[in-house]
Amino acid sequence: MIIFSAPDYNGMSRKAANLISAQVILKPDSVLGLATGSTPLGVYAQLIDWYNKGDVDFSKVRSVNLDEYCGLAPDHEQSYHYYMKENFFKHINIHLENTHVPNGLAEDVAEEGRRYDALIESLGGIDLQLLGIGNTGHIGFNEPSESYIKETHRVTLNQKTIDANSRFFASKDEVPRYAVTMGIGSIMKAKKVLLVANGAGKAEILYQSLFGPITPEVPASILQVHPDVTIVGDEEAMSVIR
Ligand code: F6R
Repeated sequence: MIIFSAPDYNGMSRKAANLISAQVILKPDSVLGLATGSTPLGVYAQLIDWYNKGDVDFSKVRSVNLDEYCGLAPDHEQSYHYYMKENFFKHINIHLENTHVPNGLAEDVAEEGRRYDALIESLGGIDLQLLGIGNTGHIGFNEPSESYIKETHRVTLNQKTIDANSRFFASKDEVPRYAVTMGIGSIMKAKKVLLVANGAGKAEILYQSLFGPITPEVPASILQVHPDVTIVGDEEAMSVIR
């Protein structure tokens, strides 16, 4: 595991964007596993900037996102389909047909899970998986539980996650209670994992994930046994790790 501490959010974003750019430059048809949320916004902004400067080309890149809220249509402003289009895809030359986000409207989520896992497999697996980390230690929306679920599946969001994500919705009641998330299996099979974290609020859970016991009660702790993980945190998130 490689751990980088950046002085601030901008530094974290640039470092992570550098690592993603290097991946795409070295393998132009990379399969990128992508994340949403506040943390990677700066990473996407930096990649867009470098794309505009001609430094990185996404025309052959394929992407698979980690998760989507159940019940939100792709054009819903809080859906992760919408987030990806608005914050990244529409600003670069990735082909939209090469981008994939789980279908939050699927009536049969088990079937959607099988479809999504088969899709990831058909792309040859994930070359680099970008992750944020939730206050609960979730990666994707794999919330603390008694066991890890390997496959893409429906998850009941933890109350802490609902509280944290309510900042994006008009009220807490509007936050979906369920999501469909890539399982721990696809994340752990990714050739490389890049986790970004910022802010003091993530310091304790980041420490537990990286140095505490490996347990599904702290889902991100499984990354300790992944062979190629890079953590990029800002100073606040790294404050306990020194
Ligand atoms: C998003 C995702 C989540 C977030 C996590 C942190 O696709 O899978 O695991 O990475 O909830 O979110 P932020 O960055 O908003 O703190």
